[in-house]
Amino acid sequence: MKNIAVLTSGGDAPGMNAAIRAVVRSGINSGLRVYGIRRGYNGLIQGDLQEMKMSSVSDIIQRGGTILRTARSEEFKTPEGLAKAVNVAKVFNIDGIVIIGGDGSFAGAQKLTDSGIACIGVPGTIDNDLAYTDFTIGFDTAVNNVLDAINKIRDTSASHERVSIIEVMGRHCGDIALHAGIAGGAESIIIPEVEFSLDDICRKLIQGKNRGRLHSIIILAEGAGDGIELEKQIASKVDMEVRTTILSYIQRGGNASAVDRLLASRMGAKAVELLKEGIGGRVVGIKDNKIFDMEIHEALAMKRVFHNELFQLSDILSNSMTD
Ligand code: ADP
Ligand code: F6P
Repeated sequence: MKNIAVLTSGGDAPGMNAAIRAVVRSGINSGLRVYGIRRGYNGLIQGDLQEMKMSSVSDIIQRGGTILRTARSEEFKTPEGLAKAVNVAKVFNIDGIVIIGGDGSFAGAQKLTDSGIACIGVPGTIDNDLAYTDFTIGFDTAVNNVLDAINKIRDTSASHERVSIIEVMGRHCGDIALHAGIAGGAESIIIPEVEFSLDDICRKLIQGKNRGRLHSIIILAEGAGDGIELEKQIASKVDMEVRTTILSYIQRGGNASAVDRLLASRMGAKAVELLKEGIGGRVVGIKDNKIFDMEIHEALAMKRVFHNELFQLSDILSNSMTD
């Protein structure tokens, strides 16, 4: 393999830049020419790419977002779009591509591989919703962003003796809510994986208030309900002021944490190692702090195992039923 490329696709995630840097630098160090493809699969279809140098990735390891930009490409999902993408790769003699993204992007990587362009998937998404890997790039930073917000909201929430609902991202996966909720000492955590009872939440709030608690924090994952709607429902059942903050894109931006930079660097380098050996059709992951790789289609077929013990722990630690 002589020429490889890298692209970012789907929702951006802090640490994607560190992964791009790792691909570019380990690629060049291995004697490969490395292209950067802009705007995900759209850029591949349109030939929007350029050769990357060592200096192209200077001063980006810390930055959130992605210097290559990202996109969701409907055209790429069509047979015609795929054929155009394959043609562009062939015109530039690109034999392998590192695809940094989530499960949708990996489905695309599998199709490209099946069409003769060896692809390696690197998991870049704040959601941590990929079953095959313990962690995805961007998750740790997003959790820390949410924690930072919880700390700030706690100050004002305590001063006004209010209940604060904080809505975080996670359409199908409650990991951001669960991890930030436990680390931030939230009273209740509402996630898509576990059915919640409004009455239980209200009972906790009332009992907490009766025991003298000044304020409460409820973390809600977007996939489990609507924050504003929940605010109305709680306010109609308890005699307390309730306010909602939807963190939205605040949690997706910002400098990548040390954990994400390291993870991205290790995964990016591993992806290049595989391509150098002519291997494609695989994803890179981390299990018990070891970087590994497996078939894309196997990884996509895996069902997420929900860490129920972590959820139970959140309930035990927040229990406000007794003194
Ligand atoms: P993520 O990669 O974060 O899961 P998306 O699901 O939006 O984000 O997918 C990103 C892009 O990957 C899509 O816009 C599309 O171009 C490509 N993609 C998604 N699903 C498929 C698929 N089944 N076949 C081919 N390409 C796909
Ligand atoms: O997949 C990452 C993610 O940040 C989800 O948590 C969120 O629901 C979604 O992307 C938002 O996507 P968009 O950038 O299209 O608004």
